[in-house]
Amino acid sequence: MKVLIIYGTTEGQTRKVATFLKDEAEKLGHTVTVADATENPPAPVGFDVVLIGASLHMHNYQNSVFHYVKDNAEALNKLTSAFFSVCLSVMANDEETINELKQITESFMADTGWKPVDIEQVPGALLYTKYDFFKKMIMRMIAKREGHQTSTKEDYEYTDWVKVRAFLNRMLKA
Ligand SMILES: Cc1cc2nc3c(=O)[nH]c(=O)nc-3n(C[C@H](O)[C@H](O)[C@H](O)COP(=O)(O)O)c2cc1C
Repeated sequence: MKVLIIYGTTEGQTRKVATFLKDEAEKLGHTVTVADATENPPAPVGFDVVLIGASLHMHNYQNSVFHYVKDNAEALNKLTSAFFSVCLSVMANDEETINELKQITESFMADTGWKPVDIEQVPGALLYTKYDFFKKMIMRMIAKREGHQTSTKEDYEYTDWVKVRAFLNRMLKA
């Protein structure tokens, strides 16, 4: 099958997920194109499966992904297309945060007109060493509140690669 993977990223974790999906799909014999949504990505027409990923920053997905999806919603709705959302709030234990995440993702779909066949919420990463001073302080504060690691000398990855692979396998069989 011809697979297209489009992603938006701020610190690089969603690119890492997109690259993982590409490598795994290629191992299964599929032909895969990966593109950053900011770099003139190809339209979905002509592909069998389209996977689109974005990460949450201050409750918003990347604008580039929003515009790509909105511009191509009609084409995306005619084929097997799915969304992978990379964030930290999916790891929260409280219902309020989980509901808020669900609402953000639903608003993204409502505002773009996209009806993906599946949505996978992927735990992201705390990449302290890549943040500037202020981002580091903010993220440390949020991490402390949410019970995540707070030593800013290191990076922490929470992505569950087994679940990401299972998402891919579902989509390739859809
Ligand atoms: C400044 C900043 C704001 C963030 N805001 C949110 C947020 O509102 N909700 C959330 O669940 N995660 C939030 N995160 C966590 C990111 O979604 C997570 O670090 C993810 O791995 C980033 O993916 P990326 O490297 O592809 O951009 C934030 C991270 C940063 C650095």
